Amino acid sequence: MLETDRLLLRQWQPTDREPFAKLNADPKVMEFFPNLLSREASDAMADQIQALIEQQGWDLWAVEIKNTQQFIGYVGLHVPTYDLPFNPCVEVGWRLAYEFWGNGYAPEAALMALKFGFESLNLAEIVSFTTMNNVRSQRVMEKIGMQRSSETFPHPKVSVKSELREHCLYRLSHCEWTVTKNNI
Ligand SMILES: CC(C)(COP(=O)(O)OP(=O)(O)OC[C@H]1O[C@@H](n2cnc3c(N)ncnc32)[C@H](O)[C@@H]1OP(=O)(O)O)[C@@H](O)C(=O)NCCC(=O)NCCS
Repeated sequence: MLETDRLLLRQWQPTDREPFAKLNADPKVMEFFPNLLSREASDAMADQIQALIEQQGWDLWAVEIKNTQQFIGYVGLHVPTYDLPFNPCVEVGWRLAYEFWGNGYAPEAALMALKFGFESLNLAEIVSFTTMNNVRSQRVMEKIGMQRSSETFPHPKVSVKSELREHCLYRLSHCEWTVTKNNI
């Protein structure tokens, strides 16, 4: 378990399944994803993440507000299992329920995930990527000190016909982290 001022990043619990399914079925949260998730697909995703945390000790952690014990979504590190032009890589990612947006929770949790990735896993680099129009997510990448790369790429899991296919890429190296972590 990891802890920030306001948040816990922890292993998934059975009670997270319902609020997770709710946010995965919310068109506002899923605006930049090809489709909403059914309850079954949402549960399967949570099961998969939980198993990865069990096996390797980290992945996309469930995020809980310490004061209220509310589950608000996930933030963490993940190894993509599909072909990307910059593989092998570890990405930092997030998805929060709409009611919790705008409080800086995603950057707060993501900075802890970066710290874990660089200082406990000793990763050389962490990346993040999103569809070109997902400015909210790009703001989080900027707030945590990631640098936008000039390269964009078509996401292999998004249909060639979809306007969501082209993605931008942000990177942060271990060296950059040692500098930026003191300036954020
Ligand atoms: C991206 C996301 C995690 C942001 O989390 P957050 O905790 O709200 O982060 P912040 O409070 O720092 O806000 C980041 C930006 O989101 C936008 N934002 C925040 N609250 C918002 C709201 N209620 N409505 C619309 N946009 C909002 C703003 O652009 C903000 O940037 P700013 O602080 O410079 O104004 C959240 O919007 C989310 O879960 N989105 C859906 C999932 C997603 O797109 N994941 C990334 C896929 S790669």
